[in-house]
Amino acid sequence: MSALLTLRDVWVEYGDKVVLEKVNLGVEAGAFVSIIGPSGAGKSTLLRVILGQEAPTQGSILLDGQPLAPECGPDRGVVFQRYSVFPHLTALENTVFGLECAKAPFLTRLYGSARRAAMGEATAMLQAVGLGDSLHVYPAQLSGGMQQRLAIAQALVKRPRILLLDEPFGALDPGIRADMHALIVKLWRDYALTIIMVTHDLREAFTLGTRVLAIDKRRHDPHAPHRYGATAVYDLPLRDRVAPVAQAEAEIASETTCSS
Ligand SMILES: Nc1ncnc2c1ncn2[C@@H]1O[C@H](COP(=O)(O)OP(=O)(O)O)[C@@H](O)[C@H]1O
Ligand SMILES: [Mg+2]
Repeated sequence: MSALLTLRDVWVEYGDKVVLEKVNLGVEAGAFVSIIGPSGAGKSTLLRVILGQEAPTQGSILLDGQPLAPECGPDRGVVFQRYSVFPHLTALENTVFGLECAKAPFLTRLYGSARRAAMGEATAMLQAVGLGDSLHVYPAQLSGGMQQRLAIAQALVKRPRILLLDEPFGALDPGIRADMHALIVKLWRDYALTIIMVTHDLREAFTLGTRVLAIDKRRHDPHAPHRYGATAVYDLPLRDRVAPVAQAEAEIASETTCSS
């Protein structure tokens, strides 16, 4: 099976500063990849190039074997640690906006029946993330966890195949974080997503991921710290986890066995 997402010999440089060097990576559909690494290693930069927000200096990124479109397409959605929602729009308007960007990229506005359909989809997505009672609330009135639920709804309403998460739960209290973990695993399974999540929290990386990728510098020049970039130094498949579709099928199979 060929990978859904492939990075081939990707380099990112800013002037003479090498941030990423020679990153090679294949991500299978249905994987939940946790990315860990020291602060400043280039984790967010890696997500930006996968998102298509930034072109690598060298190398290529393939989605389904095709070069990535230069702009951020609806096949990829992203959630940052904070500030990814618009403060002047309600939860519903923020989520509809996510759809408008995907469906009417030049007008960024939908009208008539298309808008009504978008409102319906956005409402359903807000219900799926647990914000069904907060449709008309502004982000400032939502708790940190609820704002992240909204950011997830805004990203998922476009039905991306790949969801990119950049330390999405880092600013949340531990109890809230546990609720968010349950939510993200449910969404990963329900929507058959491929997830790439950057996290500082090793436990989070290992509990949620089907694979943990560590990025760091392999070599270091103390006289010229910018000279070398980071790359994938560890890539650990966690064998006791399987892709959500396969897992759901296994559960259905075992239920069938039990009831017969
Ligand atoms: N647009 C940019 N111009 C110059 N340097 C940048 C730019 N974006 C990121 N960097 C640098 O690249 C390095 C990696 O940053 P980042 O990807 O944000 O790291 P991480 O997310 O792992 O903490 C940092 O040293 C940062 O200062
Ligand atoms: Mg970062």
